[in-house]
Amino acid sequence: MTREEVLTSIEANVENKNLVKHMLATEAIMRALARRLGEDEEEWGLTGLLHDIDVELTGGDMKTHSKLGADLAREMGTGEAVAHAILCHNEAHGIPRETKLDKALFCADPITGLITAAALVRPDKKLAGVEAKSVRKRFKEKSFAAGASREQIATCNELGLELDEFIELSLEAMKGIAEDLGL
Ligand SMILES: [Fe+2]
Repeated sequence: MTREEVLTSIEANVENKNLVKHMLATEAIMRALARRLGEDEEEWGLTGLLHDIDVELTGGDMKTHSKLGADLAREMGTGEAVAHAILCHNEAHGIPRETKLDKALFCADPITGLITAAALVRPDKKLAGVEAKSVRKRFKEKSFAAGASREQIATCNELGLELDEFIELSLEAMKGIAEDLGL
C-alpha cells in the first residue's frame, strides 16, 4: 500500500480539512520520530497518516473510534503493528501500549494541536516564527489549547525522549510541511 493510496482513502472518508491536516502533521512527526529512533520511517509515517481515518465514520463515538480505524488499516494491508498502534491510541478501549510504534503515535497525536495553536495565536498565523521555547511555555499554560493533553504529550519519555527534544523535533517536522498545513 502506497502513501498515495492512503491519501485517496482519506479523501474518501474524511471531509473535515482540519482533520486531514492533523493527520498530515501527525505523519510528519511520526516520520521524524522514526528517523530519530532508527525505526521504519514509512511504517511510522503511515500510522500517523491513517490514525484518525475513522473519526467521521464513527461520528466521534469513542467506543468505536480507532477500532474501525484499525480494521480499515488491516484491510489496506498495513500489517498488525500499524493496526495495533491505531487501536490503542484511543485510551477508551483500555488496550495497553506495548511497542515503540504504539507509544510514538500516542504522544505525537496531541502535540500537533499544541503546536498548531501556538502558530495561530501569532499575528501572521505562521509556523515559521514559532520557537520551541514558546511551545514549551504554552505547554505549561494549562488553559492554552486545553484539548492537547499535556500528560499524553509527556509520555514521549517512554520513548527515551525529553520533553524539550520532543517539542523541538515535532515543531521542526511540522515546519517542514507548513504549506500543506496552511500554517
Ligand atoms: Fe489524532
